[in-house]
Amino acid sequence: MASVFRPAIDQMAGYVPGEQPQEAGWVKLNTNENPYPPSPRVAEAIRRTAEGRLNVYPDPDATGFRRAAAALHGVDPDWILPANGSDENLTIIMRSFCDAGQQIGYPYPSYVLYESLAQIQGVQVHRLGLGADWLWDPAEAAQLRRQLRIFFVPNPNSPTGTLWSTEQLLQLLPDQGVLVLDQAYADFAESPQTAALLQDSRFDGRLVMTRTFSKSYSLAGIRFGYCIAQPALIHGMRKVKDSYNCDAVAIAAATAALQDQQWMLDNRNRILQTRARLAAALPQLGFHVHRSEANFLWTTHSGVSHRTIYERLKQQRVLVRYMRFPGAAEAGTELDGLRITIGTDSEIDRLLQVLPQSVRP
Ligand SMILES: Cc1ncc(COP(=O)(O)O)c(C=O)c1O
Repeated sequence: MASVFRPAIDQMAGYVPGEQPQEAGWVKLNTNENPYPPSPRVAEAIRRTAEGRLNVYPDPDATGFRRAAAALHGVDPDWILPANGSDENLTIIMRSFCDAGQQIGYPYPSYVLYESLAQIQGVQVHRLGLGADWLWDPAEAAQLRRQLRIFFVPNPNSPTGTLWSTEQLLQLLPDQGVLVLDQAYADFAESPQTAALLQDSRFDGRLVMTRTFSKSYSLAGIRFGYCIAQPALIHGMRKVKDSYNCDAVAIAAATAALQDQQWMLDNRNRILQTRARLAAALPQLGFHVHRSEANFLWTTHSGVSHRTIYERLKQQRVLVRYMRFPGAAEAGTELDGLRITIGTDSEIDRLLQVLPQSVRP
C-alpha cells in the first residue's frame, strides 16, 4: 500500500524518549526526573480538584496559575502561557513562528526534540556545532542568525549542564525571529537568566523563556510547563494552542507546587549536594566529568565503551542514559557518553556500588 503520510513524516525517524520501565526495582537515573516527591500541597490540590467539578472544561487560560507564576517572576499574567509540559510549548512556538521551508537552529549536541518538531513541520534545521569546550563559534552564529526564524537554546544545556552567559545568548538572537531560552533546568543553576531579561532592549522583545514542572518541581508525571514572553508574543501563541491544553488536575497541581517554593528549593539543594558527591567520586573510577549546573552529569570514560558501561549497569537494574550524537565529533566534541541524573543519596550509593565492575576492562 502506498504511504498515506506526508513525505516529511515518512522521512523522519521520530523522537525517542528515554526508557520508562513500568515495574518497580529500578534505580532510574536516565530522564532527569526529580528523585524526591512533590510538595504535599500538590496531592491536596489534586484531591480537591477531583472532588470538584471534573464534568466541566477547565479554565482555558489557567487564570489562577498565571497569576501565581506572574507574581513569582515579577511580570503581569499576560506574560505567561501555560502548556501541557514544556514540550507542548516548544510545539506551539514552532507552529507560531516558523512556516514549512523556513529555518530554525539549535546548538548541537543539545535537546534533539527541536529537530523532530522541525521535521514534522517541514522546517529546515541548522545545527550550531559545539566545540570541545561546549562553545560555539561566534562567527558561525553571526552567519546563522540572518536566516533563522527561531533559535532554540537550552540553558543549562543537556547533556552537559553547561550554562551560557547572557552575552553569549545575544549572539544567537535571529535577525528576524525569536530566541527561545529553554529553562527546563534553570532552577538547578547558580545564576540563571531571570524574566527581567525579557525587558532587556538588546533582545528586542523577541525572547521567549520556557519552564517546566517536570524537573525541579518533581511533577514529570503531571505534564505542565509555561512560557514567559512579552504580551505581544503570548497573544499570538495563544491562538495556536488547543483551547483546553491544560487539564484541571494539572493546573491545580502546578499552582500548588509553584506556591511551595521552599519545598522545591530544599529538594534542589539536596540534589546539588548529591551532584557534588557524585562528581567527586566518578574520576576515581576513570571517568571524566563535565561541570554541570543541572540535575545531571555528563561523563565519559577513556577505558571502556560507554555503551558497555550502560549495558552492564542496566543488568544491575541501574538505568543511566547512553547518548550518542552523530556528527558531533567533527566539532571536536565527544561523540557519545553517559548522562547520569542525580538521584537520592541511596540511589547514587547503589550506582557507585555497581560502577567499579561496570568499568572493568
Ligand atoms: C532541555 C529540555 N527541554 C524540555 C524538556 C521537556 O520538558 P517537559 O517534561 O516539560 O515536556 C526536557 C526534558 O527532558 C529537556 O531536557
